[in-house]
Amino acid sequence: MLISMYEFNEKLKTGNAIIDKEHQELIQAVNKLLEACNERKGRSSMDETIKFLNNYVQQHFSHEELLQEQSGYPGIAAHKLFHENYKKTLEEITSRIADSGSTITELVNLNKHIRVLISHITTEDKKLGAFLNQQ
Ligand SMILES: [Fe+2]
Repeated sequence: MLISMYEFNEKLKTGNAIIDKEHQELIQAVNKLLEACNERKGRSSMDETIKFLNNYVQQHFSHEELLQEQSGYPGIAAHKLFHENYKKTLEEITSRIADSGSTITELVNLNKHIRVLISHITTEDKKLGAFLNQQ
């Protein structure tokens, strides 16, 4: 196995039930893609997991943004900008994987990008969770 799976643990909890549930599912989707890459699964399974992950990220980010809009979260502009850039880069990396297969370079890129998301969860999403809990 080239890249190990991710785990949803206490460190990732934001304290908001909706966000936490979606993060859990997001990590499952990430793991599914990593598994498909690691096991050199067939093209169709790869395309499917890539599509699912990109869609799920889109959906989840818009849910977070809606919660921020509804609560008047002061950090919304920066948070939204992060989401926009993140989606764009994720799509670029995953489309290269879909095109030319899971090369080591792309797997490393993908893994780095997943780590960026994990660190966003443990910092920015936690701030958001704390803000939402004060409402
Ligand atoms: Fe976020």
